Amino acid sequence: MNTKELIEIEDNYFINTFTRQPIVLDHGEGVNVWDIDGNKYIDMFAGIAVNALGHNHPKLVKAIQEQAEKLIHISSIYYNEPALIYAKKLIELTSFDRIFYSNSGAEANEGAIKLAVKYTGKSEVISTVESFHGRTVMTLAATGHEHYHEPFKAILPKGFINVPYNDIDAIKDAITENTAAIIVEPIQGEGGVNVPDIGYLKEIEKICNEKDIVFIVDEVQTGFGRCGTLFAHELFDVKPDIMTMAKGIGGGVPMGGILATEKVASAFVPGDHGTTFGGGPLVCAAANAVLDEILAEDILDNVNEVGDYFVEELKKLDKEIIADVRGKGLMVGLELTEPGAEYVDKLREKGFLINCTADKVLRFVPPLIITKEDIDEFVKALDEIL
Ligand SMILES: Cc1ncc(COP(=O)(O)O)c(C=O)c1O
Repeated sequence: MNTKELIEIEDNYFINTFTRQPIVLDHGEGVNVWDIDGNKYIDMFAGIAVNALGHNHPKLVKAIQEQAEKLIHISSIYYNEPALIYAKKLIELTSFDRIFYSNSGAEANEGAIKLAVKYTGKSEVISTVESFHGRTVMTLAATGHEHYHEPFKAILPKGFINVPYNDIDAIKDAITENTAAIIVEPIQGEGGVNVPDIGYLKEIEKICNEKDIVFIVDEVQTGFGRCGTLFAHELFDVKPDIMTMAKGIGGGVPMGGILATEKVASAFVPGDHGTTFGGGPLVCAAANAVLDEILAEDILDNVNEVGDYFVEELKKLDKEIIADVRGKGLMVGLELTEPGAEYVDKLREKGFLINCTADKVLRFVPPLIITKEDIDEFVKALDEIL
């Protein structure tokens, strides 16, 4: 079938939830992907900040293949070695003590909020305007976008308060006797790559410690090296009570998780939470391969070096249409003075995949293995289309 015929299947049979780009992708290698018509693209989007190691990475593919031949799924009722090994490895690298495996970012946040509510016995959660925490009903309530709430207002749970991001006074004003948790992204992704002031997270940590409120960082998008440290909250020198993760964790296989301190994690007992698929051997084998590769190949150094270079090159573009360039590591946003959708199309036609978020922000979240040469090619194309 050709591209047009395939896309018609979507039009006729899919529930209408996405505005998709009109290409059918077929295969990939490193930072490149090809569509079924043979067109090659540099992937500056990485499946919404997921493909940390790029496409078709030999070690990731091998890990998945070998595990698939042994055991794919067994449920959470039995132990499996990849999940156990991974838990020990990740916890030894962080300030957390306990893990729970989920299948996505929304599910991780859903579980984190349940854990905070159980731990505190309280029911209010403070989150931030322009945040994104997921599409389940509770994470939708935490997500700070009114237009996502609108059609579902009748079923959104009470107790979620959205306050402006990077505004510590707004958080202080929103706290009540009943506050269970504050959930924030260390750097907002969907909200437009918004980097907070250096002291913002530290202040939240302080308030949470003083009032025994659970401090949750949502690292679904920022985690696993995206911002140049294994987790972005490290940049702000904080030790949250809970961290949620997904996206880059499995390099492309659907996986997520919650990390928590012993104190908070101990609130859950069997029956409080669960999952059929979470922490299965296949995805955990992939996660082990991704983490090993990030650590062994100095991928964080590449993220910092290429990320800084990328921002510098973007800042050199002298265009009236550019309102701002911001980001950390390989999570970079270029804010325009006008809506960005048409530039996404123009770049795709030139062979580059990106997306536009928060209406005017072109967001670049390429694989963490991208090189300066790829960046040069991309910036040249961007220069031309802007
Ligand atoms: C910060 C953040 N949290 C949560 C989510 C939801 O993750 P998922 O789509 O895996 O449910 C996203 C997705 O973009 C995200 O960026």
